Amino acid sequence: MEIKTVGIVGAGQMGNGIAHVMSLAGYDVILNDISGDALDRAMATISKNMERQVSRGKITTDAHQTALSRMTTTTTLKEVGQTDLIIEAATERETVKQAIFEDLLPHLKPETILTSNTSSISITRLASRTDRPEKFMGFHFMNPVPVMELVELIRGIATDEETFRACKKVVERLNKTAASAEDFPGFIVNRILMPMINEAVYTLYEGVGSVQSIDSSMKLGANHPMGPLALADFIGLDTCLAIMNVLHDGLADTKYRPCPLLTKYVEAGWLGRKTDRGFYDYRGETPVPTR
Ligand SMILES: NC(=O)c1ccc[n+]([C@@H]2O[C@H](COP(=O)([O-])OP(=O)(O)OC[C@H]3O[C@@H](n4cnc5c(N)ncnc54)[C@H](O)[C@@H]3O)[C@@H](O)[C@H]2O)c1
Repeated sequence: MEIKTVGIVGAGQMGNGIAHVMSLAGYDVILNDISGDALDRAMATISKNMERQVSRGKITTDAHQTALSRMTTTTTLKEVGQTDLIIEAATERETVKQAIFEDLLPHLKPETILTSNTSSISITRLASRTDRPEKFMGFHFMNPVPVMELVELIRGIATDEETFRACKKVVERLNKTAASAEDFPGFIVNRILMPMINEAVYTLYEGVGSVQSIDSSMKLGANHPMGPLALADFIGLDTCLAIMNVLHDGLADTKYRPCPLLTKYVEAGWLGRKTDRGFYDYRGETPVPTR
């Protein structure tokens, strides 16, 4: 089946990025959110980000205008159900996602593929609550969506080959690369990245190095473009802690134990860039290490 129309549920940080790349790639997009304000903000963000791409010579003004004309917004799920591919990118809470899929069911075409952009919830469990677990999979974009080249495609236990192939074609049309992952906590990227960040926090906690020396070591000694603590601030320390808890609970192995210092920062409300303070303090001209 050829995918022509894409429904996106949730117009936050990820949903607006997904709508952005899908419309530029030529798909007709229906963007849904429960909040009309979120939809207005998403459209303004998409337009601003596309203008930036025009000014950098990455896309033409024509492509920008055509992409915007391919997008519609709605606060109901009825028309979303009539699309060929639905990507759910709403708030990371299982009850929210389950309710969305339940509400979508009566409106779906028989061939509609259902996917979720979840970072941590079991694809198999979400799929089992729908009428089509074989046509359900994880479609996991990285943040920021227009910039990052990878999409993890996660098969639930029942996902069929046709669904996987259809989603892979979409990823290719976006000029991105798909990595196929099985449905286990953290999939691939977070399973590897988060324990590394957590270990960097342990290294700080145990006094092996300062924020500065840990980040410089990994930049200059391992050729990482950004140190692990600066990266943690960028992702959000609450998000890092939540993912470590998912790995710890889901894999039941003490090697995923979240570092108590990470928990302490989250308790303090020092969540990284979004709160102006994390492993660095961002309130001045240049970031200053907090330890
Ligand atoms: N932020 C990231 O770095 C990142 C990366 C990869 C995947 N994800 C995943 O993407 C999803 C969205 O994350 P985000 O960072 O964009 O969150 P966000 O908070 O920016 O946006 C979530 C949006 O969902 C909307 N929403 C809530 N309930 C809804 C409902 N019932 N129907 C329709 N819309 C609803 C909210 O109004 C909000 O606009 C999550 O599953 C998250 O795990 C996030």
